Amino acid sequence: MENNVRPESMERITTKALAEAFIDEQIKAVREQVGDKKVLLALSGGVDSSVVAALLIKAIGKQLVCVHVNHGLMRKNESENVIEIFGKELDANLIYVDATDRFLDLLAGVSEPEKKRKIIGAEFINVFADEARKLEGVEFLAQGTIYPDILESFKQAEGKKAVKSHHNVGGLPEDLNFELVEPIKLLFKDEVRVVGEALGLPHAMVYRQPFPGPGLGVRCLGAITRDRLHALREADAILREEFDNCGLAEKVWQYFIAVPDVKSVGVKDESRYEGWPAIIRAVNTKDAMSATIEEIPYEVLHKVTYRITHEVDGINRVLYDLTPKPIGTIEWE
Ligand code: XMP
Repeated sequence: MENNVRPESMERITTKALAEAFIDEQIKAVREQVGDKKVLLALSGGVDSSVVAALLIKAIGKQLVCVHVNHGLMRKNESENVIEIFGKELDANLIYVDATDRFLDLLAGVSEPEKKRKIIGAEFINVFADEARKLEGVEFLAQGTIYPDILESFKQAEGKKAVKSHHNVGGLPEDLNFELVEPIKLLFKDEVRVVGEALGLPHAMVYRQPFPGPGLGVRCLGAITRDRLHALREADAILREEFDNCGLAEKVWQYFIAVPDVKSVGVKDESRYEGWPAIIRAVNTKDAMSATIEEIPYEVLHKVTYRITHEVDGINRVLYDLTPKPIGTIEWE
């Protein structure tokens, strides 16, 4: 427990020089901990797991085995980026698992949000465990635990209100009894980002907006179908592209599209055209406990609406969600 407490003397990592000192220290510590054994890491492409991967590649090279599970609920090009950056540029030992069919088959017909979340979480562990069992000589599991995760878990332990269960690869089956490697567990998010940049990870990856573990699964509302999921992914990519173009991407905390399981009547090429609405959500927050709405300029809204309704098959309307949190949560499910 002791080494789960951030010492008061620990300086906040705000500069490249401090980040480099931290990296050197952790490289030494990781090498000492794992010796010549292999370390497994679930690499989602999120900030925390990416920073851990880059750090461990530096420390132990090919002794690190990264597993990227594509659950079919990633945003457009997300898995491709992980393969490009880690598999190619950083030459990591990367196993890519396309588990889209496993996930989407299990989710077919399931409309209840909590049930969907549980299926996705449990199947993620199943897929990861299947991969882990195929490997030989792995004794360690690296995780992108950060300090807020530890602080929130503490509260739970004291019997206070549980904040949330974290989406690290907790709950692995008992036969996979790994020792944990958690090199960034005493860092806050802003420090993780400084360390990530010092490790040479792309700015867009280090500063990317939060993305929930269940991915587009909680934005393709109700029972997920492949066609609606595809439409959501394409519409979301357009929103992100337009936010990049007008500078909002740097400013807004979280922005995305949700697509409900509802169709309305529209008209296209002089014929009846039934389609789903794409709902724009763009919020700002400090701690995700409450959130305010970003006032997107009308010209951006018009452009996004035009592009989505003209470029994405199956979407015939665009709506703008103006609900703060509370009363709405940030995600729709
Ligand atoms: P809500 O919808 O509860 O979301 O207002 C608050 C923040 O948490 C993110 N979120 C998740 N993050 N695993 C995660 O890692 C999850 O299961 C999950 N669900 C929601 C959400 O995107 C928002 O930033």
